[in-house]
Amino acid sequence: MAKKHLAAVVLAILLALAAGATGMRASEIDDGMPLIHMLRPLLHSGGDLGRRGRVPCDSWRFAVETNTLRDWDTVPARCEKYVGNYMLGGHYRSDSRAVANEAIAYAEGLNLTGQGKEVWVFDVDETTLSNLPYYAKHGFGVEPYNWSTFGAYVKEANAPVLPETQRLYKRLQALGIKPVILTGRREDKREATANNLAAAGYTGYLKLLLKPQNVKVSSIEFKSGERKKLQDAGYVIVGNIGDQWTDLLGEPEGGRTFKLPDPMYYIG
Ligand SMILES: *[C@@H]1O[C@H](CO)[C@@H](O)[C@H](O)[C@H]1NC(C)=O
Ligand SMILES: *[C@@H]1O[C@H](CO)[C@@H](O)[C@H](O)[C@H]1NC(C)=O
Ligand SMILES: [Mg+2]
Repeated sequence: MAKKHLAAVVLAILLALAAGATGMRASEIDDGMPLIHMLRPLLHSGGDLGRRGRVPCDSWRFAVETNTLRDWDTVPARCEKYVGNYMLGGHYRSDSRAVANEAIAYAEGLNLTGQGKEVWVFDVDETTLSNLPYYAKHGFGVEPYNWSTFGAYVKEANAPVLPETQRLYKRLQALGIKPVILTGRREDKREATANNLAAAGYTGYLKLLLKPQNVKVSSIEFKSGERKKLQDAGYVIVGNIGDQWTDLLGEPEGGRTFKLPDPMYYIG
């Protein structure tokens, strides 16, 4: 790079940094030179991304999906529109498609030698079924979780299918891999969950495993414990898919894990 050009770029960055500090938009100081990746420091962005106001919503979502940001209660209010657009526009669907494509390619490459003992673990909420009709009415995760209204919605057994997960589900069945449904929903939701899964087109699964009614157990503890039981019973968990990291973490995880997007809530 020519020395003069380099100096100009450095000046542009310094101006951009100054613009960030004064709240001026970087584009306002753009004099036609390519901006170097908008190197503007966002003030107060170091700590709790959820509470502090300056991190763009797509950066917030990145932190959520990578399990960097944990134990958050609600979607930041300023991100309601962003999350709504993400969920209802094509983006959520195309991110889910990318995950399903990868999972199918992986499954198709497996050597199935387990004499029909290979299983694949599926979560329910935001994995086999979508609660978007509920969340669309409750601020896409901006409103605090309300167990009574959400519980009533679950009991309606009317949640729509997540089509990309269903495509994976049916492909696995065609390959001879048996689905196991493992959910953090409690036993009192068994009938509603089974009915909802059937209505959404999920048939022929090996087991539907729900959390016991009155036992206090974390999601990781419960789900990894159930996977261990499957393994001890001679099943081979070749894959595991869910929208929460707590669906996927904890030994045994399964041959491979697949994380679906979910910027609406966090389950610890
Ligand atoms: C599956 O088995 C075939 C034939 O034995 C072998 O060529 C292939 O590499 C195996 N694939 C995997 C993923 O192990
Ligand atoms: C949950 O929703 C119900 C019905 O709208 C309301 O009466 C109740 O106060 C809410 N509970 C919480 C904890 O917000
Ligand atoms: Mg879920």
